[in-house]
Amino acid sequence: MPRSGPLPAAFSLLLLTAALLPAPSVAQNEPRINASEDVTIQVYGQAAITLQCNLTTSPSPLSASYWVKNGEEIPGTRKTSNTTEYKILKPRAEESGEYLCVFVFSNSPVANATIEVRAIPDITGHKRSENKNEGQEALMYCKSVGFPHPEWVWRKKVNGVFEDINNSSGRFFISNKDNYTELSITNLQINEDPGEYQCNATNQIGSTSVTTILRVRSHLAPLWPFLGILAEIFILVFIIVIYEKRKRPDEVPDDDEPAGPMKTNSTNNHKDKNLRQRNTN
Ligand SMILES: *[C@@H]1O[C@H](CO)[C@@H](O)[C@H](O)[C@H]1NC(C)=O
Ligand SMILES: *[C@@H]1O[C@H](CO)[C@@H](O)[C@H](O)[C@H]1NC(C)=O
Ligand SMILES: *[C@@H]1O[C@H](CO)[C@@H](O)[C@H](O)[C@H]1NC(C)=O
Ligand SMILES: *[C@@H]1O[C@H](CO)[C@@H](O)[C@H](O)[C@H]1NC(C)=O
Ligand SMILES: *[C@@H]1O[C@H](CO)[C@@H](O)[C@H](O)[C@H]1NC(C)=O
Ligand SMILES: *[C@@H]1O[C@H](CO)[C@@H](O)[C@H](O)[C@H]1NC(C)=O
Ligand SMILES: *[C@@H]1O[C@H](CO)[C@@H](O)[C@H](O)[C@H]1NC(C)=O
Ligand SMILES: *[C@@H]1O[C@H](CO)[C@@H](O)[C@H](O)[C@H]1NC(C)=O
Repeated sequence: MPRSGPLPAAFSLLLLTAALLPAPSVAQNEPRINASEDVTIQVYGQAAITLQCNLTTSPSPLSASYWVKNGEEIPGTRKTSNTTEYKILKPRAEESGEYLCVFVFSNSPVANATIEVRAIPDITGHKRSENKNEGQEALMYCKSVGFPHPEWVWRKKVNGVFEDINNSSGRFFISNKDNYTELSITNLQINEDPGEYQCNATNQIGSTSVTTILRVRSHLAPLWPFLGILAEIFILVFIIVIYEKRKRPDEVPDDDEPAGPMKTNSTNNHKDKNLRQRNTN
């Protein structure tokens, strides 16, 4: 009788799983939501998009429904109705994301359905150029909108073609977040590093890229503004000296000329006054 051992054990396991299964009445009361299909925003000529959720089975009276985008409630969408809509009037990449319709019940847990609105990544922020001195650190970045979040790749233009970054010097550092990527280059080399760098964002829908121009100036570059200021001061002093020298001889007649007529004018006025006074007398 070596087989009689496992049999009771298997039987009790069967009983246990049967007891754990939800009762059919509970299954019937599970909330059910009929939601719109996932959508993809087309870049050109996209018409408004309407997301819909219809609650088809309610476990207990409905107390509210609302919409959530990327984990945050969309203000102004709260209402009490078993059908709810959210309209995206001007669909663009920034409107893409994970949308949820949420139904709240008076006596049972919330229920929700997810609708994905997808779009090709759009790079909304980057530097057109980065200017640094040799030995310093350069920092370039790109940030994107567009769901799903992209995979990021950085490339550098070599002989007219963008190639993966050659990190044999160990000076290149890349840090990626969902919708943000950063490339930093330490200890800049004036012979190797200047050029065009490209960040490329790729998701299921497509890919986009932008470029940043890196300029690296020589160590002497910080001196140029100082030399410039010196030159400016020199020129200024030169101009002042010349001006003063030219002004001197002119000063003598300039001082006398306006004084003469003014005096005569005032004496004339006095004379006039005296004349008038005499006349009235
Ligand atoms: C859900 O909606 C689709 C059309 O949008 C319809 O064909 C289907 O019958 C609906 N399901 C239920 C359970 O209402
Ligand atoms: C929701 O219900 C409305 C009618 O009330 C219907 O026109 C619409 O197609 C339904 N939507 C879904 C996603 O089932
Ligand atoms: C949804 O609401 C309408 C009107 O309030 C009602 O007629 C309908 O029975 C409701 N449907 C469900 C599934 O609760
Ligand atoms: C959506 O439903 C899941 C369970 O299906 C729950 O864990 C989550 O918290 C709900 N999310 C929201 C925003 O209500
Ligand atoms: C980037 O994603 C995070 C969450 O993934 C979000 O909070 C943030 O608003 C997004 N930034 C942009 C510019 O889309
Ligand atoms: C990377 O650059 C070094 C010289 O800077 C070169 O020897 C090496 O072949 C390059 N590697 C690749 C994969 O291009
Ligand atoms: C480049 O090399 C350095 C040193 O080996 C390493 O720490 C860094 O992560 C590398 N960067 C990339 C982008 O691979
Ligand atoms: C981005 O990189 C991917 C993968 O290497 C490539 O297929 C795509 O053409 C690149 N896109 C752009 C806009 O450069």
